[in-house]
Amino acid sequence: MVKRVFSGVQPSGSLTIGNYLGALRNFTKLQHEAECLFCVVDLHALTVPQDPKELYQRTLDVARIFVACGIDPKLATVFIQSHVPAHAEMSWLLECSSYVGELRRMTQYKEKSSKQEVVTAGLFTYPVLMAADILLYQTDEVPVGEDQKQHLELARDIAIRVNNRFDEEIFKVPEPYIPPKIAGGRIMNLQDPTEKMSKSAENPRGNIAILDPPDAIQQKIRSAVTDSGREIYYDEENKAAISNLMVIYSLCSDQSLEEIQERYAGSGYGQFKKDLAEVVVETLRPIQERFEELSRPGVIEAILAQGRKKAEPLALATLERFQDRLGLLPLLRS
Ligand code: TYM
Repeated sequence: MVKRVFSGVQPSGSLTIGNYLGALRNFTKLQHEAECLFCVVDLHALTVPQDPKELYQRTLDVARIFVACGIDPKLATVFIQSHVPAHAEMSWLLECSSYVGELRRMTQYKEKSSKQEVVTAGLFTYPVLMAADILLYQTDEVPVGEDQKQHLELARDIAIRVNNRFDEEIFKVPEPYIPPKIAGGRIMNLQDPTEKMSKSAENPRGNIAILDPPDAIQQKIRSAVTDSGREIYYDEENKAAISNLMVIYSLCSDQSLEEIQERYAGSGYGQFKKDLAEVVVETLRPIQERFEELSRPGVIEAILAQGRKKAEPLALATLERFQDRLGLLPLLRS
């Protein structure tokens, strides 16, 4: 049996090279070996205030970036979360099998809620919606960055709890697919290597956006913070900034950390940063070109309509089975 893969990306800012290296790049690999569904999770973005026009545009842009990064709509299903209403319905059903205590323990909730003036109920129940996304598709594997690990564990806990209650495998218990840090699982902010790079960060100077033009990329890398000393080697604890830049270099150039260390032995940060900027620009250039092509009216819309058609029946099969086990009346079709 071919395994099934599901993952989602929020249209809550301009996607970064962190999203690319931690997640999207792996999506494109997995599409050749698994049945893949990749979803623009617009409902998740609503958990914090969004400008409606921007959200609309970003939702289309994230879908375009999926395809521009190499997701082939003939191999994988690309769709928008809100186009399959079963996600919201399943989320409610799962909320009734989730506990306030376990949601309160979510570190991302604690972090995000401390930055908001008003905290919506949606921000609190967000991980349950994520569990619904995954469980609806009987997912085997979920490729994500390290920051989603705790949310995935919750999805597994909920699946196991429901299966135990009904003594039946209502949901497949999903496995995480999280790259280690040196393989892109956690790309850090260029201005503060103790913080992860985040598309919703207030200050974009620490982020490289996938759609940043070359001069912005060069500027951001030139002004990236570095560590004391001049040597270039990988040491996450004592050389956090350089180690992060090395990981980006390594993944964008297909060179190992050792090769990079050897190459820049004795040459200082200046040349290293100049070359890194070039490697990043060249990695993003083809993606940006394809993005432009996909911006022609109607192109991405057709891909998304097709994606919804494939995703919805899969989601409904799980939803209806769960509704039945819970004792909800089936739709009475006349
Ligand atoms: P989101 O939209 O914040 O991020 C999308 C993906 O990018 C990864 N990522 C990173 N990887 C490495 N370094 C970074 N600095 C970095 N920043 C982000 C994220 O781990 C993620 O894989 N809750 C999810 C979206 C979601 C989802 C799902 C994911 C909703 N439903 C179901 C998987 C399955 C989120 O906010 O990701």
